[in-house]
Amino acid sequence: MDAIVIEGGRPLKGEIEIGGAKNAVLPMMAASLLVPGPIRIHNVPRLRDVTTFLALLHEMGVAGGYENHSLVLDATRVTSQEAPYEHVKKMRASIYVLGPLLARFGRARVSLPGGCAWGPRPVNLHLDAMTALGSELQLDHGYIIGKAKKLRGARISFDVSSVGATGNAMMAAALAQGTTVLENAAAEPEIHALGEFLNALGGRVTGGGTKTVTIEGVATLRPGIEFTNIPDRIEAGTFLAAGAVTGGEVTVRGVRPAHLTMVLSRFEKMGCSLDIRDDRIRIRPGKWVRLRAVDIVTEPYPGFPTDLQAQFMALLCLAEGAGVITETIYPDRFTHVPELRRLGAQITLSGNAATIAGVKELQGAAVMSTDIRASSALILAGLAARGRTHVSRVYHIDRGYERIEEKLARLGARIARLKGEAG
Ligand code: UD1
Repeated sequence: MDAIVIEGGRPLKGEIEIGGAKNAVLPMMAASLLVPGPIRIHNVPRLRDVTTFLALLHEMGVAGGYENHSLVLDATRVTSQEAPYEHVKKMRASIYVLGPLLARFGRARVSLPGGCAWGPRPVNLHLDAMTALGSELQLDHGYIIGKAKKLRGARISFDVSSVGATGNAMMAAALAQGTTVLENAAAEPEIHALGEFLNALGGRVTGGGTKTVTIEGVATLRPGIEFTNIPDRIEAGTFLAAGAVTGGEVTVRGVRPAHLTMVLSRFEKMGCSLDIRDDRIRIRPGKWVRLRAVDIVTEPYPGFPTDLQAQFMALLCLAEGAGVITETIYPDRFTHVPELRRLGAQITLSGNAATIAGVKELQGAAVMSTDIRASSALILAGLAARGRTHVSRVYHIDRGYERIEEKLARLGARIARLKGEAG
């Protein structure tokens, strides 16, 4: 297992290119199962989660793989409709194959994902949606066994806004007979992008990116298309936070600022100065020397994303005053708190709320990463801390960030990866 070491206390300076969105490309990869022929997706980040999903698709008989930062996938000959536990336990997003398999083949055997480091993360909404579309589902020894003759369009109203369940239902409905209306759908940009991708394949999706998505089923989708993935708003937010936490000047390039509206407003409220031009955002210190504390509530898009909660906690650790982070999506997504405390942060937890009393200085220490975004929060804190921070178990970060240490080093960070370091 690799580790990352950082000598903190250096303001970052420079410009970096943001990669394609991981959470948009995963459902597109699943959607490749809907079409008997090749498709090409551009702007795909080279990440562990993508290769894990690719391994699952290969096991089902899908051909193809990376060509630089593009993916070529061909699901002409699908030989198995099964997603085994060994794959699903590595990555919950594997559940995305359920809808496409039921829609095209009328059967699926998909392992139930287990819990994760921060909570149970159920899949009931995925199952309810498949049932509403006419599948028969059974749970058998930890597996979801699904059968369907022909899926039928339905009106589905989600109790909770779910990115995964919305995406799964859209993919299933794309080949269903009749019209499906999803209410209280997830409006995240990644779901909007999935709708555009399905439309490029000849699907009929309207309202993607809003709370009501309508899908008119078609008999077949057409392969042979090329599609360019959207930029990763979470990677962009993380690098802007790296600029902010070190008091530096960082420009992220190749982004869609409109996807970051709520996040950018928090940076400004903390006192950062932003310069937004087309696909670039530059962050630098504003009129105050120290960041100012703010309160943050994580919510479905367009609210503040839970996937940037840990990174903003790292900022609040060094801000002037106290800020409260309320996590409404995953109430116990706080595994980074004890690690940040090891660096000298003052954080108290009460239910789904963390109160962070800013300190003037953090001190480098040995810490352990627990999930993708918690890892990046520890790296951010390490960049600002005095002395050396040693982050172990960084395989989590490779799931969601492409060569983060190289990108940060290009901005002037003193950071290195220690290969094979014991976690
Ligand atoms: C996706 C993202 C993840 C992000 C999350 C929330 C991917 C691959 N992952 O995860 O990075 O943190 O959105 O923005 O895109 N829920 C249920 N029942 C279900 C499904 C979800 O109750 O069947 C609940 C969850 O417990 C959670 C909320 O719905 O409280 C939102 O979860 P959801 O949007 O489904 O997250 P994912 O799609 O798993």
